Amino acid sequence: MTAFEEEWHVVEKKVSAQLSAGRFQHCLRVADYARRLAQENGVDENQAALAGLVHDYAKERPVEDFLTAINHFHLDPDLKNWNRAIWHGVVGAEMIQDELGIDDPAILAAVRLHTTGAGVEMPTLAKIVFMADYLETGRDFPGVKEAREITDKSLDRGVFYQLQHTLSFLAEKGNVIYPKTFTSYNDWARHFAE
Ligand SMILES: [Fe+2]
Ligand SMILES: [Fe+2]
Repeated sequence: MTAFEEEWHVVEKKVSAQLSAGRFQHCLRVADYARRLAQENGVDENQAALAGLVHDYAKERPVEDFLTAINHFHLDPDLKNWNRAIWHGVVGAEMIQDELGIDDPAILAAVRLHTTGAGVEMPTLAKIVFMADYLETGRDFPGVKEAREITDKSLDRGVFYQLQHTLSFLAEKGNVIYPKTFTSYNDWARHFAE
C-alpha cells in the first residue's frame, strides 16, 4: 500500500463512523468527482480526493459540539447565530484537523469554503471541492447536466453558476442567506462583467 492509500484507509473509516450510509456514499462520490476535476485543472488528484472524502465529516454532529468548537478554536462568535449548514464547513475544518489529523492547509481551506464559496481569490482546490459537491454523480437537479458541461469547460464559470443558482434557490424559499455567499457571488459577478 502507498502512504496515500494507508492514509485514505484510516480517514475513510473515521469519516464513515461519523455519517449515515447515504452521506458517506455522497462523500465517496464527491471524492471521485473531485479527482476528475483535479486531473482537468492541474491539481494533485489524491489531495482533491481526500478533500472530497472529508468535506462533510462534521455534517451530522450535534449543535453542542459546534458551539463548543466555536469557543475552543476562537472562531468568530457570530457563527453561533447560524446553523449546521454553515458550521460543518467553517467549524468542520477545525474538527477535521483536530480529529483526523489532516494538516494540509489547502484541504482545510477547501472544506472551510465548501458551503459558502469564495470570491475570485478562491484557491483551485477549493473550487474543485465546491463543484464536486454540487455535481457528483448522485446529484439530480434541473440544470445539473448544463452545470457539469459549464464546469468541464471552465471551473470558474462553474463556481459562478453554482453561486447564482444557490442564491436564487435560497431566496425563492425565503431562507436566510449567509453574507459570505453574497460577497462570493458579487465578486464573481463583477469579474465576469468586466
Ligand atoms: Fe457540505
Ligand atoms: Fe457535501
